[in-house]
Amino acid sequence: MESALVTLIAALAGGYLLGSIPFGMVITRLLGLGDLRAIGSGNIGATNVLRTGNKAAAAATLVLDGAKGAVAVVIARLIAGEDAAQIAGAAAFLGHLYPVWLKFRGGKGVATFLGTLLALAFPVGLAACATWLVAAFVGRISSLAALVSAATAWIWALVLGRADAVAFCLVLAILVFVRHAANIARLRAGTEPRIGGKKG
Ligand code: G3P
Repeated sequence: MESALVTLIAALAGGYLLGSIPFGMVITRLLGLGDLRAIGSGNIGATNVLRTGNKAAAAATLVLDGAKGAVAVVIARLIAGEDAAQIAGAAAFLGHLYPVWLKFRGGKGVATFLGTLLALAFPVGLAACATWLVAAFVGRISSLAALVSAATAWIWALVLGRADAVAFCLVLAILVFVRHAANIARLRAGTEPRIGGKKG
C-alpha cells in the first residue's frame, strides 16, 4: 500500500516536471526569435513557433513536446509498470498545460498528447498522428486538425483493440478541447488562421 502510494506520487511528480518544460519558449528564446507570448496566438506550441518563420524551431518544438510525454511514459513503465505509465503520461500532459514555471499558463497539449499516446499504445498514437496529418492536409488549420485527432483517438483505441487506452484518450481529449476554447471560437467565426499564416 505504502509503496503503491510512493509509485503514484513519483509518477505524478516526475511526469508533471518533464511535461512542464516549455520547449517552445526555451527554443525561441535561445534562438532569439522573440517572445512567443507576443506572437500569433501567444501559445507556446509548435504551431505558434512556426509563426516566427523558423520551421526548424517549430519542428524541434513539436518533437520535444511530444518526446517529453513519451519519455515520461517509458520511464514510468520501466520502473513501475503500465498503470504508472498512464499516470505519468497524463501528468506530463498536465505539466505541459499548466507548467509551474509559466505561472500555470501553458500550452494546448496536442504534441504532448500524441507523444504520450505513441508510447502508451503505439498503434493508437500512430492512428491519431495520421488523423492529424490528414485533417491538416485537408483543412490546412492546425487547431482543427488537433481537435479532430483528439476527438477521434478514443475510437481508434476501441477499433485497434486497446480498450485500456479509451479513458485516457477521452480525458485528455476533453482537456485539449478546453484549451482550444479560443480556437473553437475563431473556427466558428471563420477567422482561425491557416497553417503558415502569421496571425492567430
Ligand atoms: O497545437 C496547437 C494548435 O492546435 C493550435 O495552436 O497557436 O493556432 O492556437 P494555435
